[in-house]
Amino acid sequence: MTRLLVPLPGNEALATRLGLLLGTDVAETEFRHFPDEETYVRIVTPVSGRSAVIIRTLDRPDEKFLSLAFTAATLRELGARQVGLVAPYLAYMRQDRRFQAGEAVTSTIFAKLISGTADWLVTIDPHLHRQSSLSSIYNIPAQSIHAAPAIANWIKRSVTLPLLVGPDAESAQWVSEVATLAEAPYTVLEKTRRSDRDVRVSVPDVARWRDHTPVLVDDIISTARTMIATLGLLEHAGMKPAVCVGVHAVFASGAYDALRAAGCSRIVTTNSITHETNEIDVTEMLATAVSAIATVPA
Ligand code: R5P
Repeated sequence: MTRLLVPLPGNEALATRLGLLLGTDVAETEFRHFPDEETYVRIVTPVSGRSAVIIRTLDRPDEKFLSLAFTAATLRELGARQVGLVAPYLAYMRQDRRFQAGEAVTSTIFAKLISGTADWLVTIDPHLHRQSSLSSIYNIPAQSIHAAPAIANWIKRSVTLPLLVGPDAESAQWVSEVATLAEAPYTVLEKTRRSDRDVRVSVPDVARWRDHTPVLVDDIISTARTMIATLGLLEHAGMKPAVCVGVHAVFASGAYDALRAAGCSRIVTTNSITHETNEIDVTEMLATAVSAIATVPA
C-alpha cells in the first residue's frame, strides 16, 4: 500500500520535508471557505488503496478540528486503507480533570474525537501531566516523540556554558534529560499559576552559576508568563541574559512580543508549530516515527 501525505493548510512545508525524507508523495488538495465560512475540502490526488497520513499541527484546535475530521472522512470514502495523523502539537492536554464541579474534561473528550477520526497518531512531547501516557486516553496507536535530544544538540552547539532552568517540578525529569544530553547543569523552579496570566515562580539560589548562561526550557510557551516571571528573577539574581527554549511555539496573542520585551537574549522553538523562532528541526524524528507506526495494519 503506497503512502500519501495529506497536509492541511499551514502544514505544507512540513509535509514537503517529510515527503522527501520518507520518499512519499504529497497530495494535491483544495481547502477553502464558502462565504458563510463553512469549509470546502477536496482531495485531488487519487487515494484509493493508499495509506493516507494527514499532517495537521493542532494549536488553535477549535478552528482546525472540523477540517481535519472532514478530510479524514473523505479519505476513507475515497478508498484510503488507513488514515494516520501527524499532529506535532497536540492540543487539549491540560484540562485533564474536573478542577471545579461541572467542568468539561476536555483532554479525554478531545482524545475520543481524534481516536474516532484517525487510525493512529504521532505527536511531539504532549503535555502529559496527570495522565501517564497517551494510551490512557487515546484508544488508537499513539506515539509521542521526545524533542529532548534535538533541544540538547541545539544547546550544545549554540550556548557557551549553559545552565538549564526548568519551570516547575513536573518538568524536572524532562529538563534533567536535556541537561544530561547537553552535558550541562540544571535547576528547577517552583511555580504557582494563580490564573491564566498570573504566574509566580521562585528561583533557587543560582549565585554559583553566575558565569553560566541560563537556558529556560519548557514544553509549551503559551502566554509566556512562566518565562517572563523567570527572566525577571534571574535578572534580579544577577544572571546573564537568558535564552528561552520551547518545544511548542503556541504564543497566545501578544505573548511573543511580551517575551521579547522581557529581556531574554534569544527565543528558540522547534518546528512543531510554524513560527519565526523555529530553529530546532524535528522533522527527521517525525519521519522515523511515521515509518514505524504506519506499519500498523488498517
Ligand atoms: C505547564 O505546566 C507547562 O509546562 C508550561 O509551563 C506552560 O504551559 C507555559 O504556559 P505559559 O506560557 O502560559 O506560562
